[in-house]
Amino acid sequence: MQKPHDLYQARRGSALDALAHVRDGDTIIVPTGVGEPPTLLAALSEQRRQFNDIRVTQLLAVRKYAYFDPETAHHVRHASLFFSGASREAGQQGWADFIPNHFSEIPSLIERGDMPCDVVFSIASPMDEHGYFSLSLGVDYTMAAIKKARAVILEVNPNVPFANGPCHIHISQVTALVESRDAIIEVGLPKIGPVQEAIGKYVSDMIPDGSTLQIGYGGIPDAVVLQLTGKHDLGIHSEMIGDGILKLVECGSVTNRKKNFLPGKMVATFALGSQRLYQFMHQNSMLEMHPSNFTNDPHIAGQNNQLMAINASLQVDLLGQCGSESIAHSPYSGTGGQSDFVRSANRSAGGKAFIVLPSTAKDNAISRVVPTLTAGAHVSTSKNDVNYVVTEFGVAQLRGKSARQRAAALIAIAHPDFRAELREAANRLEIFR
Ligand code: COA
Repeated sequence: MQKPHDLYQARRGSALDALAHVRDGDTIIVPTGVGEPPTLLAALSEQRRQFNDIRVTQLLAVRKYAYFDPETAHHVRHASLFFSGASREAGQQGWADFIPNHFSEIPSLIERGDMPCDVVFSIASPMDEHGYFSLSLGVDYTMAAIKKARAVILEVNPNVPFANGPCHIHISQVTALVESRDAIIEVGLPKIGPVQEAIGKYVSDMIPDGSTLQIGYGGIPDAVVLQLTGKHDLGIHSEMIGDGILKLVECGSVTNRKKNFLPGKMVATFALGSQRLYQFMHQNSMLEMHPSNFTNDPHIAGQNNQLMAINASLQVDLLGQCGSESIAHSPYSGTGGQSDFVRSANRSAGGKAFIVLPSTAKDNAISRVVPTLTAGAHVSTSKNDVNYVVTEFGVAQLRGKSARQRAAALIAIAHPDFRAELREAANRLEIFR
């Protein structure tokens, strides 16, 4: 067998060389968030008119590349698994595609061939002496895609941490590689106002010491995390690791010692935070990065006792159905792991699933607790799964409750300005008969 270093030299080339492995009609799979390889995607953007019918499938794109140009969508078109600031407008205007999914199931969509996968473009850590790269920043569905793809192309960057866990790929599996030194994009913590603080306090009061946490995407989950710094022996089993979790580790609240499942280890599938977070991930024995069919599978994540899942929503109706990812029919984000982790927490002994949202939007003009979801809204968490809904006015516990009890509990945590009209609507809908 050839030595890893010799294979590395043989595979190394320019981004243009790497593009030679892409054929018209291909689907290119790109990892979540900052796992995207900027040099490769910029080269694809520049050359996009040379290609026809290329699809770039990705969750949470963090940069708006030139291939987000609607005029050239017939050359290269984006297919989103979760919209972000970079891709949202394209999704709302309808020329970037949306593929509904549970994050836990994306690997199997690829394995079963339901989602095409011809080429993988991924950022990677430098190679170790044994010939392995770590895909630490976005492990997600990328490991499944590597098994399926005709060509695997890496962008090797010394700023990518070499994390532990089943997130490694050997040089013999790599078709081509380019080198880059771009800083990894940083995503800071949100500003916390009184609404976020109140929600965080309610949730924090319901999280006992020794719990294992999953922290979802969005401002409020991060705000909640920052209220947990007084807790002891917390563990992490999450899909995302961000600066909120890092803060809990640094202040000593996260020890992972009380975890019954993978004790001593924190587990995630993608990272989004500051340089400090990315450095923390490097060869850290406390952390394992796993594919999303491990982190997010309710049958696996639910083995953690006292699993606390904290996820955000945009709107909730009086049955508790959560429209977390669209504003009416207009897509805003995606399901991600929301439904996965709500179901995981429901399976977990002593687990709790929290859906957190401010009671209103647009300077108190719109109630987010609504009689029925706005027409066209995408349901992310079903009425059968939802449990604790938390606004700045309190907590509604819904599992095991009737429609009438749910409506009463949800109206009680709606903004006071909207409670009368919500009661009236509940009567009109015959929920309160
Ligand atoms: N009607 C109209 N507009 C609404 C609205 C409603 N019911 N609810 C929210 N909005 C607007 C807000 O005003 C805000 O607009 P602005 O940016 O102009 O102020 C925008 O929508 C976003 O709302 P916000 O509450 O600030 O959401 P967020 O940025 O914290 O993000 C999501 C929340 C979208 C990320 C979250 O709901 C989501 O995607 N959930 C599903 C995914 C998930 O939980 N996955 C688990 C882990 S990945």
